[in-house]
Amino acid sequence: MQMAFGLESVACAGSNVVHHPVAMRLGILGSGKGSNFGAILRAIQSGDLEATVEIVISDVPGAGILDLASTAGIPTHTLIEPRYKSRLSPEVEEELVRVLQAAKVDLVVLAGYMRVVKAPLLEAFPRRVINIHPSLLPNFRGLEAWRQALEAGVEKTGCTVHYVDSGVDTGEIISQTEVPLIEGDTPESLHARIQAAEHHLYPAVIRQLAKENR
Ligand code: GRF
Repeated sequence: MQMAFGLESVACAGSNVVHHPVAMRLGILGSGKGSNFGAILRAIQSGDLEATVEIVISDVPGAGILDLASTAGIPTHTLIEPRYKSRLSPEVEEELVRVLQAAKVDLVVLAGYMRVVKAPLLEAFPRRVINIHPSLLPNFRGLEAWRQALEAGVEKTGCTVHYVDSGVDTGEIISQTEVPLIEGDTPESLHARIQAAEHHLYPAVIRQLAKENR
């Protein structure tokens, strides 16, 4: 199935309508420090990724990802969820959808967003919500996947970019990078190597999605 973003119809003299590729418009959603968002931003700024970040949204007031966005001059929005910890109430998720739609976002990029996504977002952006997870899915879904990998004694783990569905880390896999475990690894050292891999993988996947749908 194809997504149809990145195209703009322009009526020209002579009456033909020509399609010009335009940069893909991203909406970023995160709860934490935003290092993946930072990597995406650097790829855009260096010309490696033809995209624009239209809005950065967080469910955590004061999250580092919001500071990063403000420093870069990107609009931000904070969601206040009074009832639940692991998801948004339907009315707050509808607010999220309105903000993304107002920003005319083509692709919703979850970058360290710590809640399960529900129908309002998935129905408004079908096959247009992606996530990065710190393991080789389907292995080690859920929290602290690097610690799960270490405790399981596997030889390699990694990171995965996938489409988001209503499950936890269950959506269709788009791309993965392997990260071998090394002797003496601690949860912290392994997590740091996985994050370094994420910072290459996420911009590369977004670039590929943009290219495929031109
Ligand atoms: C990443 O490790 C990602 O895999 C997970 O959340 C973390 C977010 O880190 N989904 P950051 O906020 O991008 O630094």
